Amino acid sequence: MIIAPSLLAADYGRLMSETLRIKRSRAEWVHLDIMDGHFVPNISFGPGFAKRLRPLTTQLFDVHLMCSKPTVLLEPFVKAGADRLTVHVELEDQISGLLWKIRSMDKKVGLAVNPPTPIAAAKPFLDQIDLLLIMTVNPGFGGQSFMEEMIPKIQQAREWRAESSLSYHIEVDGGIDFDTAPECARAGADAFVSGTGLLKHRNLPRAVSKMRRLVNDAARVTDSDRPTRGRKLAARKAG
Ligand code: DX5
Ligand code: ZN
Repeated sequence: MIIAPSLLAADYGRLMSETLRIKRSRAEWVHLDIMDGHFVPNISFGPGFAKRLRPLTTQLFDVHLMCSKPTVLLEPFVKAGADRLTVHVELEDQISGLLWKIRSMDKKVGLAVNPPTPIAAAKPFLDQIDLLLIMTVNPGFGGQSFMEEMIPKIQQAREWRAESSLSYHIEVDGGIDFDTAPECARAGADAFVSGTGLLKHRNLPRAVSKMRRLVNDAARVTDSDRPTRGRKLAARKAG
């Protein structure tokens, strides 16, 4: 299970010390939200900023591009130290080229799905990606409420992954906190982006460990549940 605090919820006047705070929290990844003021109605920061932050930590830089023309940003972000680049499936005819370009630069490939977009839009690309990002809010701003209706998408992503023996991460992003993270873990998520839900805590290492413990426990309950449910069903069928 992976915890990825989002810098979007950090104090922008202190992005360097906030990055160090995330480093000390021992979260696995740092999530960087890149917004272009066109794909989403907000602007965040560009590759120049990411480059300044890169020397501060060895944590994986999980770059989420909420941009209409990410093709012009891929190389600058790779040069700035991105480890994964996630682009949105809503970009339709750009997708194949984008996924190919990210892979050709030897970086991890992510594909994101917005709440109004059916998860089926991602299906043709599942064998080409390392991570499927299921947005649990409409992107653009931190601090929004988690959308429960996205849970079936997580379950579907898990089913497809098992059916095709794939290994992409299922990441959730938006409104993730101590209540919603375990709910997503039970549905099949294994990477948890959290901005406000984590960074509001003064003791970030404790908050990160708590979220990790909650999602591990939730996933464990689901796993140990599964054979029992299977056995019950089999017994019912047999009987
Ligand atoms: C939303 C961004 C998220 C955001 C989540 O547009 O993609 O990564 O930082 O923020 P919270 O966790 O506050 O909902
Ligand atoms: Zn994000």
